[in-house]
Amino acid sequence: MITLQIPATSANLGAGFDSLGLALSMYNQVEMEEYDGISIQSTDDVAVPQDETNLIYTSAKRIYDLCGKPFKGLKIVQTNRIPMTRGLGSSSACIIAGILGANHMLGNPFTPDDLVNMAAYIEGHPDNTTPALMGGIVTAVFDTQKVYWVKQEVDSHLKFVAMIPDFELSTELARKRLPAQVSHKDAVFNLSRAALFSASLLSGKYENLKVATCDRLHQPYRKDLIKGYADVVQAAYRLDAYGVYISGAGPTIMAIVDEKNTLFPLQIRHQLDALGLQGWRVEEMHIDNQGARVME
Ligand code: HSE
Repeated sequence: MITLQIPATSANLGAGFDSLGLALSMYNQVEMEEYDGISIQSTDDVAVPQDETNLIYTSAKRIYDLCGKPFKGLKIVQTNRIPMTRGLGSSSACIIAGILGANHMLGNPFTPDDLVNMAAYIEGHPDNTTPALMGGIVTAVFDTQKVYWVKQEVDSHLKFVAMIPDFELSTELARKRLPAQVSHKDAVFNLSRAALFSASLLSGKYENLKVATCDRLHQPYRKDLIKGYADVVQAAYRLDAYGVYISGAGPTIMAIVDEKNTLFPLQIRHQLDALGLQGWRVEEMHIDNQGARVME
């Protein structure tokens, strides 16, 4: 059995729609071995597909098929700490577990670059899959079948506080809300802020993050899918968050907070309760600079 650990991810980061993402210190664990058939279990009460539709399984099989290696089946044991369908990269974590685990069991025929491309191809966009595999903050462009990407390690004094709603929101549904066209003005609004975000995060100019997380490509169209959105964002800024944005396709709302702001998680919990959002979870995380790993 090999053991894999795969981080949660937060994509878009405000203005960097489909192109920026970072890895976080919340991990799924997957144990895996070759097996004559299919055996898929969870160590927790999260229901996962136990047949050949399981995303870890299908992603691993793809690697065997691409290598032309016979594939008899897999035994998989999943520990699912990343909440599903909440904008924290749970699907990407499954894809990365499958391809990284299979690649390892086959003696690493594919390079990390190959795996980045395969993961983005399976998922459709690279902004969750690439940081899940590589860690850090990733800038990624999926251009005609190939991902052009840069990973940067972040030595930050920040924490990422996720406010995770008690309802799911599928990426497919959230993407259907997006307009087919945007104005030149809105395009410029976003590209300038996406660039500002990376430069500010990496240089420590955190006071820029409030402006840098503003966006006109997806958040204005998705916010109505998240009950309480405006109140939660306002509450987080009142508690001195540097930046607040919809994580991935949502519904999680992420606050970027100074490490020294120790009261933030407790205070935002109280605010959520006061807003009638008792079912929401609050999770405090940091940037993971390592990415997915095989632990043996
Ligand atoms: N960037 C995607 C979206 C989600 O916002 O729809 C993560 O891949």
